Amino acid sequence: LLLNGLLLIAAYLFGSFPTGYIVARQLKGIDIRQEGSGSTGATNVLRTVGKGPALVVFLVDILKGIAAIVLVRFAYALPQFQELAANIGPAASWLSWMVILAGLGALLGHTKSVWINFKGGKAVATSLGVLFALNWPIALAGFGVFGIVLAFTRIVSLSSMLAALALPGIMFVMHQPLSYQIFMLAASMYVIWLHRSNINRLLSGTEPRIGQKLPQPS
Ligand code: G3P
Repeated sequence: LLLNGLLLIAAYLFGSFPTGYIVARQLKGIDIRQEGSGSTGATNVLRTVGKGPALVVFLVDILKGIAAIVLVRFAYALPQFQELAANIGPAASWLSWMVILAGLGALLGHTKSVWINFKGGKAVATSLGVLFALNWPIALAGFGVFGIVLAFTRIVSLSSMLAALALPGIMFVMHQPLSYQIFMLAASMYVIWLHRSNINRLLSGTEPRIGQKLPQPS
């Protein structure tokens, strides 16, 4: 139990690495939490810093999600861990649950980072990373939905949310383990909840497309 707790804390810490905040501060000397949408995600870095930095943030935020899952799988593969686990029950059966808890831990870290006053991003890239580690073809399918909506609308938030809506269904249709399905449902609901301000802007017709500025709050 102690080891599992440590793994979850490590997953949170992976997620909490504030990539977008650091990149914006280093390259432009700005506090990204005060700029654009206030998110530390790649979309807001694209808006306030530039294309290259946004790509770096996107990739590193994906890697954080992958790292959290790889860490748990690695720990569970260690002989010492298996020995410990054997005393409690069949390790394999709770590995898949620990994996998804670590995934959720990474999302929590990314969106509520202890290093930047519990601010963060909207969990899109990091969820994609977790998903890549769980089932990469499904991650690609989700990314495909995102890409298609983005190509048509040029609105990142809408693309993220439609991908988030599609993915639990894809998981179900592809007969994924129950734990993965539950992760996807929780992650998708969390992603959409984090897009509340985007939903309001979409409804009022003020959500910016790629390359457009956010309307100034009046
Ligand atoms: O990945 C987050 C994206 O869907 C929306 O970001 O900065 O436009 O709120 P933002």
